[in-house]
Amino acid sequence: MKGLADKVVVVTGAARGIGRATVAAFARGGSAVVATDLLSDELSELVAELRAEGGKVEGVYQDVTDAAAWPRLLADVVARHGRLDVLVNNAGIAIIGNIEEQTLEDWRLTSKVNVESVFLGTQAAIAVMRQNGGAIVNVASIAGNVGEPNLAAYNASKGAVKLLTINAALHCARHGYPIRVNSIHPGYTDTPLVSNAIGTMPEEEGGKFTAEILSHIPVGRLALPEEIAEPILFLASDSASYMTGSALIVDGGYTAA
Ligand SMILES: NC(=O)c1ccc[n+]([C@@H]2O[C@H](COP(=O)([O-])OP(=O)(O)OC[C@H]3O[C@@H](n4cnc5c(N)ncnc54)[C@H](O)[C@@H]3O)[C@@H](O)[C@H]2O)c1
Repeated sequence: MKGLADKVVVVTGAARGIGRATVAAFARGGSAVVATDLLSDELSELVAELRAEGGKVEGVYQDVTDAAAWPRLLADVVARHGRLDVLVNNAGIAIIGNIEEQTLEDWRLTSKVNVESVFLGTQAAIAVMRQNGGAIVNVASIAGNVGEPNLAAYNASKGAVKLLTINAALHCARHGYPIRVNSIHPGYTDTPLVSNAIGTMPEEEGGKFTAEILSHIPVGRLALPEEIAEPILFLASDSASYMTGSALIVDGGYTAA
């Protein structure tokens, strides 16, 4: 992929799962990565592991729902690295619940973490990328494309991320900002998000849910986090220079079936 070496990259939700794999892939490609998360200990382990390999990585505590912290974080990155080239809005949560069961509290929390943070991050990134350009990759989900009856709030949140991405992409293009904004739509991926969500179900129900998911995946397995990280890098790279407002599906054929 073109132009990843020496890019200055921020990845949110970087301590686990897809974010962790994305940080590692950027670092191994030569980018300078600012990895953010709430989980400082797990973040420190990742940073130590990648620095030992020669990676240019730093870990910063960030709650993506903290509106005031966003401009501060990105201004600090620009002050120390000279610019921001890439923002990956990856942090997200999934709370199991169908439309009859899901509580208003679950709905609000999901919206805050999955949608409001992407709004805040995208807005703050545009402000610092407007002059020199950059790429924003928002991690949505196939739940932003098709229904997932067990995840009412999550379903709605990822649909919102898809359209917010398109909105920001059009805004930047029409204002002549050299900023590309795209979303990625992973299918079920083997991360703590999935195992923890299934873990909240009674054992038999969880087993049935897992079997049902697998039966809908044509390739017959979950994605590895690394298999989502690589397409994220592609969208962020200069190889995707003509892509903006796209919703890239990476799902082992789930939504094609
Ligand atoms: N795993 C999947 O099957 C799957 C499928 C499609 C989309 N996604 C999306 O990919 C993204 C990453 O998911 P994952 O599976 O790697 O999840 P994960 O739970 O393994 O990791 C998510 C990370 O986000 C962090 N995080 C959560 N709330 C945060 C907050 N308020 N501020 C900062 N960090 C916070 C967590 O601490 C964790 O490190 C999410 O947006 C998720 O919706 C996941």
